[in-house]
Amino acid sequence: MFISISVQLTLLFVGSAFAGMNKTGSLCTVTPSGSKDDSPSIMDAFKQCGQNGQIEIEEGDYTIAKVMDVLNLRNCDISIKGKLTWNDDINYWLRNSIGVTYAQRSTAFRLGGDTFSIRGHGKALFFGNGQKWYDQNRNNSNQAGRPISLTLWKANNVFIDGITWRQPQFWQDTRGSCPAPHTFVAHSQNVTMTNLDMNATSNSQWSTVNTDGTDTWNSKDITIKNWVVTCGDDCISIKGNSSNIYVKNVTCHESGAACIGSLGNPSTTPDYVENVLFEDFTAIHSSNAAWIKTYPGQGHVRNITFRNFRFTDVNQPIYVSPCIYSYSNCDGSRLKISDVTWENITGTSRYNVAAGIYCSKSVPCTGFKFKNIEIKPKNGGSAKVLCSNMNSDSGLACTGTCPAGWKQQLSGNA
Ligand SMILES: *[C@@H]1O[C@H](CO)[C@@H](O)[C@H](O)[C@H]1NC(C)=O
Ligand SMILES: *[C@@H]1O[C@H](CO)[C@@H](O)[C@H](O)[C@H]1NC(C)=O
Ligand SMILES: *[C@@H]1O[C@H](CO)[C@@H](O)[C@H](O)[C@H]1NC(C)=O
Ligand SMILES: *[C@@H]1O[C@H](CO)[C@@H](O)[C@H](O)[C@H]1NC(C)=O
Ligand SMILES: *[C@@H]1O[C@H](CO)[C@@H](O)[C@H](O)[C@H]1NC(C)=O
Ligand SMILES: *[C@@H]1O[C@H](CO)[C@@H](O)[C@H](O)[C@H]1NC(C)=O
Ligand SMILES: *[C@@H]1O[C@H](CO)[C@@H](O)[C@H](O)[C@H]1NC(C)=O
Ligand SMILES: *[C@@H]1O[C@H](CO)[C@@H](O)[C@H](O)[C@H]1NC(C)=O
Repeated sequence: MFISISVQLTLLFVGSAFAGMNKTGSLCTVTPSGSKDDSPSIMDAFKQCGQNGQIEIEEGDYTIAKVMDVLNLRNCDISIKGKLTWNDDINYWLRNSIGVTYAQRSTAFRLGGDTFSIRGHGKALFFGNGQKWYDQNRNNSNQAGRPISLTLWKANNVFIDGITWRQPQFWQDTRGSCPAPHTFVAHSQNVTMTNLDMNATSNSQWSTVNTDGTDTWNSKDITIKNWVVTCGDDCISIKGNSSNIYVKNVTCHESGAACIGSLGNPSTTPDYVENVLFEDFTAIHSSNAAWIKTYPGQGHVRNITFRNFRFTDVNQPIYVSPCIYSYSNCDGSRLKISDVTWENITGTSRYNVAAGIYCSKSVPCTGFKFKNIEIKPKNGGSAKVLCSNMNSDSGLACTGTCPAGWKQQLSGNA
C-alpha cells in the first residue's frame, strides 16, 4: 500500500516535470507544452530512447530555451514534425552555448554518437529568432557565443533529411573572417544530409553576417544532396581535414555557393582537404560560385571537382586565393592546391571578370583543368580571366595575370 502510493507520487512528479514526454516500449513521444521550455522533454526523450530507440517529436510549436547536448546516441531514429523555436534570450545563449573548438564557435544543439537518423518529413522547422541577433550584431563579424543551429560532433553513420531552417542565430554562413553555419559537421564520418532548406534573411538594415549553410571540418564520407540555401555567407563550405565529400543538386541564393575553405589558419597547423565533388549547383545573386580560399598556411587541397554549375549575377564566379582576407604574404603560403577540375560552368558575372586565380609562388597550382567554361558579364561584353602561378596546360584561356592580393569580391569592372 505504502509502496504503491510512493510509486504513484513518483509518476506524478515525473509527469509534471516533463509533461510533454511519453515512453511506450522503445518509443519516446514528445508533444508541445504550450509556452513553456520544451527542451527538458526533448532531452528526456534523448535520455530514455536515445539508445536502441525511436523518438517522435509530434506536430506543434516547441520553445527551446536551453542548450541541448547529446553525444551518446546509438541506433536511434528521430522523427520531427514540429516547429522548434530557439528563444531570443541572447544573454543566455552567449553564456551557455557549447564550444566546438573551431574558430571559437559554439552551438545551441549538438548531437553525436553512432548510427542515428533525423527525419523532418519536410515538416520540421528550426526557427532561430536570428533577427534579434543580426540587429544586435550590427554588421560586426562573428561574436563568440553566437550559436550554430545544429552541430554533428563525433557522429558516425548518420542520415538527416527534410528539415527547414529559418532565421538561424549564427552566422548561418562562413563568410567574413570567421564563419558560423546553420549546420556544422565536425569529427564525423559517413553522414548523409538530404532535402534541407535554409534561409537566413535579415529584414532590417543589419545584414546576417556569417550565416553559412554548412561547414564540414575534420570529417569524411559526407554526402549532401538536394539543398536550397539563402544566406549571407558561404553556402556549402569544406573546411580543414575534410575528405570524400559529395555534394549534389544545391541551389544557393545570396551566398558563396561551393567553397573549399577557409583553410590554413593558424599557419602552424596543417589543413588537408581531398576528394571533393560538387555537381549540379545553381547560384543566384551570389559572391562566388566555384572557389578555393586559404590563408598563407600549410597542408594541401587536392582532387577537387566543380561540375555542372549554372548561375546568374555572381560577383566573381571562379576564384582562388592563398591569402584570403589579409591579401598579404600571398607567396608565403605553403598550402598546395592541385588537381582541381572546373567543368561545364556557365552563367553571368556581375562585372567583367569571370575568374581570378592567384596561386602562391612557393607552391604553384598544378593539375588545374578547365572544360566548357562559359561566363559572360551580365551587362554584356567579354569577361576577363586572370591567372597567376598555375599550370599553363589547364585549358583555361587566361586573358591576363592575376595580381597578388586580388580580392574575393569586386566592386566594379576591372
Ligand atoms: C501520455 O500518455 C497518456 C496515457 O496514454 C495520455 O493521457 C497523455 O496525454 C500522454 N501525454 C503526452 C504528452 O503525450
Ligand atoms: C552509413 O550510415 C548509414 C546511415 O546510418 C548506414 O545505413 C550505412 O550502413 C553506413 N555505411 C557504412 C559503410 O557504415
Ligand atoms: C528567404 O526569406 C526572405 C525573407 O523572408 C524571402 O524574401 C526570400 O524570398 C526567401 N528566399 C527563398 C529562396 O525562398
Ligand atoms: C550592413 O551590411 C550590409 C551588407 O554589407 C549593407 O548593405 C548595409 O548597408 C550595412 N548596414 C549598415 C547600417 O551599415
Ligand atoms: C534538387 O533539389 C530540389 C530541392 O530540394 C528538389 O526539389 C529537386 O527535386 C531535386 N532534383 C533532383 C533531380 O533530385
Ligand atoms: C588536420 O590533420 C593534421 C594531421 O592529422 C593535424 O596535424 C592537424 O592538427 C589537423 N588540423 C586541424 C585544424 O584539426
Ligand atoms: C578523387 O575524388 C573522387 C571523388 O570526388 C574519387 O571518386 C576519386 O577516387 C578520387 N581520386 C583519387 C585518386 O583519390
Ligand atoms: C551542364 O550542366 C547543366 C546544369 O547542371 C546540365 O543541365 C547539363 O546537362 C550539363 N551538360 C553536360 C554536358 O553535362
